[in-house]
Amino acid sequence: MSSHPERHTLFTREQIESAVNRLAAEITRDYRDKNPVLIGILKGVFIFMADLVRSMNFPLEVDFIRLSSYGSGKQTSGRVKIVQELSCQVRDRHVLVVEDIIDTGITVSFLLDYLEEKNPASLKLCALLDKPSRRRKPVKIDYLGLTVPDKFLVGYGLDCDEQYRNLPDIFYLEE
Ligand code: IMP
Ligand code: MG
Repeated sequence: MSSHPERHTLFTREQIESAVNRLAAEITRDYRDKNPVLIGILKGVFIFMADLVRSMNFPLEVDFIRLSSYGSGKQTSGRVKIVQELSCQVRDRHVLVVEDIIDTGITVSFLLDYLEEKNPASLKLCALLDKPSRRRKPVKIDYLGLTVPDKFLVGYGLDCDEQYRNLPDIFYLEE
């Protein structure tokens, strides 16, 4: 990887905000009486989760699991590991998995299978970004923010080698 990839804006913070608000409205409509637990996949989801839950005004819980399928850099290894476990009970709960971006689908497929075995009352998926061109496992995204091209993205929680997570907009990198 070259030392200074060029950075181009893909979505501004205003575009992200309107997508997040729309998702929050859809989730509110479906979950307002269900006291759901929203399970975010760390680390990439931390900013999206924070904005999403602050746009929703009804009883809910938040938990996180940390998974890793990537080593360092931009390539998935294809094998998913649990790096940090959940702290909530899943059985009989309405569970909504929240993910920053679905790329190959390997990470979220692993998590959905893992959670399904714990017998939740319901299990759905919300993703801010979908990069369908690289899918290797089919994934049903129940609540989707924005579809993105086959580019490596950073900002709004997304990293490249742990850098750029703090940028408020979403960019793509070009060597
Ligand atoms: P998947 O298992 O290939 O679907 O990858 C999902 C995970 O890889 C996401 O949770 C992201 O953390 C990371 N990821 C996928 N695409 C990108 C990207 O373009 N930029 C940064 N991280 C990404
Ligand atoms: Mg992630």
